[in-house]
Amino acid sequence: MKIIRSIKKIQSLTKQLASEGTSIGLVPTMGFLHEGHLSIIKRALQKSDIVITTIFVNPTQFAQGEDLTTYPRDEKGDIQKIKDAGGQIVFIPKASDIYPNGYETYIEVESLTKILEGKSRPSHFKGVTTIVAKLFNMTRPDVVLFGLKDFQQATVLKKMTTDLNYPIKFIIAPTVREKDGLAMSSRNKYFSKSERPDALALIYALKAAKEMVKANITDCQRIQKEMQAVIKTTCKKARIEYIAFNDFNSLKPTDKVVKNTICSLAVKLYNVRLIDNMKLM
Ligand code: PAF
Repeated sequence: MKIIRSIKKIQSLTKQLASEGTSIGLVPTMGFLHEGHLSIIKRALQKSDIVITTIFVNPTQFAQGEDLTTYPRDEKGDIQKIKDAGGQIVFIPKASDIYPNGYETYIEVESLTKILEGKSRPSHFKGVTTIVAKLFNMTRPDVVLFGLKDFQQATVLKKMTTDLNYPIKFIIAPTVREKDGLAMSSRNKYFSKSERPDALALIYALKAAKEMVKANITDCQRIQKEMQAVIKTTCKKARIEYIAFNDFNSLKPTDKVVKNTICSLAVKLYNVRLIDNMKLM
C-alpha cells in the first residue's frame, strides 16, 4: 500500500493512473477509522480499480470552540485498517500544504447549507465543500463515496459535484451501526462506559418515529413530540438541537411524512454532539 503525503506526488500518481485507464475511487475521511469507514472503502473497491482513502482533519470545517484540537487521531492504526480492508493508496496531506499562508478561496453551496447542521454550525459546510473540491482536484476520482449518517453533507456534496461539473459518480453508502443500533462515529469514543447507553436515545427516537409511520401517523409535529419524549426518557440530560423532517434530495422541510421523507436529529449528550437519521417512507 502506498502512503502519500505530498500534493505534487498524489497529483502525478493520479495523472498517471488516469492515463493508463485505471479507475479511481475516493473515500475522504478525517481518520480515526471505524467499521463504517471500512465498509465504505470495501464498497469503493467494488466500484473502481484503485481506492484512495484520504485522512485529513480539516480545520476549516470546525468553528472556534469545536473539537478540532481534541478530535481523535490514530494515523498508525488507520493505515493498518485501510491496508487490511484492501485499500491501495492513503493520502495524508499536511494542513499547511492544503491551506498555506494567504489561502483565501472557498466553495459554498448556498441554500442547502443554511438549515439543519448548517444552522447549528454556520461555517461548517463551507469548509467541507472546500476540502472535498480540493481533494477532487488533487485525486481526479471516477467515483466518490460518502456515508449516509451525514446525510446533509452527502446531499450538499452531491449538489457541489453536479454544479461544478465534476465527472464523478457519487455514491451514498448506508450507515453502519453498532450491534445495539448506535450509528458508528469517531466521536462515540468520547462517552464513558456509564454514559454510553444514553447514546441510544437517537436510534430509539428514530425507531419510534418509524413505528408511528408504520401505524399511519404521518403528522411530523406529533412524531416529533413522541421523539422528544423518547429521548428525555432515555437520557434526562439530553439537549435536543433539532429534530427535522425533510425531503431526502431537496432538503425541503415537510409537515407530513411522505415518500422520501428523512428524519434527522442532532442531540448533545454529556458534551458529545451526535447526529443520526432515518428515512421514514
Ligand atoms: O465526513 C467527514 O469525515 C468529513 O466531513 C469529510 C467529508 C472527510 C471532509 O473533511
